[in-house]
Amino acid sequence: MNNNIEELKSKIMELKKERNAIILAHNYQNKEIQEIADYLGDSLELSKKACDVKEEVIVFCGVHFMAESAKILSKDKKVLIPVMDATCPMADMVTYEELKEEKEKYADLKIVCYVNSSAKVKSISDISCTSSNAIDVVNSIDSKNILFVPDCNLGSYVKEKTNKNIILWEGFCPTHHRVCEDSIIRMKEKHKNIKILTHPECKKEVLKHSDFIGSTSAIINYVKNSEDKEFIIGTEEGIIHKLEKENQGKKFYLLDDNLVCKNMKKTKLIDVYNVLLNMDNEIILDDEVVSGAKSSLDAMLNLNKN
Ligand code: 13P
Ligand code: SF4
Repeated sequence: MNNNIEELKSKIMELKKERNAIILAHNYQNKEIQEIADYLGDSLELSKKACDVKEEVIVFCGVHFMAESAKILSKDKKVLIPVMDATCPMADMVTYEELKEEKEKYADLKIVCYVNSSAKVKSISDISCTSSNAIDVVNSIDSKNILFVPDCNLGSYVKEKTNKNIILWEGFCPTHHRVCEDSIIRMKEKHKNIKILTHPECKKEVLKHSDFIGSTSAIINYVKNSEDKEFIIGTEEGIIHKLEKENQGKKFYLLDDNLVCKNMKKTKLIDVYNVLLNMDNEIILDDEVVSGAKSSLDAMLNLNKN
């Protein structure tokens, strides 16, 4: 079995070279995918990386909206997604049509869209944000009224940190939204004096018990810089692989056993091999959508540069 895995990995490496491809992967991917990735990161880091890729082909191991962002930011590259139906259910909770209708109701409304949204939704939003820059993005807007789509949990977290009037959309991440206050209280009792690090896609009643709230990479950096030896992790379980690998001797407890994103777990080594072999599953986007969505992503990335 292990031999087969190693064989598959080396075939992927050969093909990757042949195709002049790079593999980008999100921190929630299966561990065997994390191990073959050229670059592993959170949504913001992956978007930045996609802007300056030298290779002709990007194989994006994550969910669909992430591969779309890579295509938008690097439109001359071929962007392939190993599993086409690895989608983000939260991103599907706001459609272009619904957002357009809302936008038309108010003349002065600015729209901030979480990157976990489709390219079409981004194309009619003023600016994108990720979990690591949402507060800065919202504060940068010269309007009091902001519609924040689609994550109501991240939106309400940001709302508490600004004096803007943030109107929330009713979207949520099914994986993080499932975690309830009882779980965090139970874990706190079981593991006394251990820091709890959570992702802002969790509900407010969970976040209020957390010692640190941040994006996946912010959580990874927190652990790296901490003297503590044990941590409770309140985000998708895939992150534990990197945490354990980079922090020998430190121990991690997942806040809730259900912190598994089915879509992030769809990508297997064989899918990466097949996509490189067949060069299919390409992300194709309409030019008009790309140009609108790029303005929204660029507005975010330019802000981040300052
Ligand atoms: P990060 O940007 O923190 O990596 O989060 C992406 C995501 O999908 C969280 O569920
Ligand atoms: Fe979407 Fe949640 Fe999965 Fe992230 S963890 S990709 S927000 S469903």
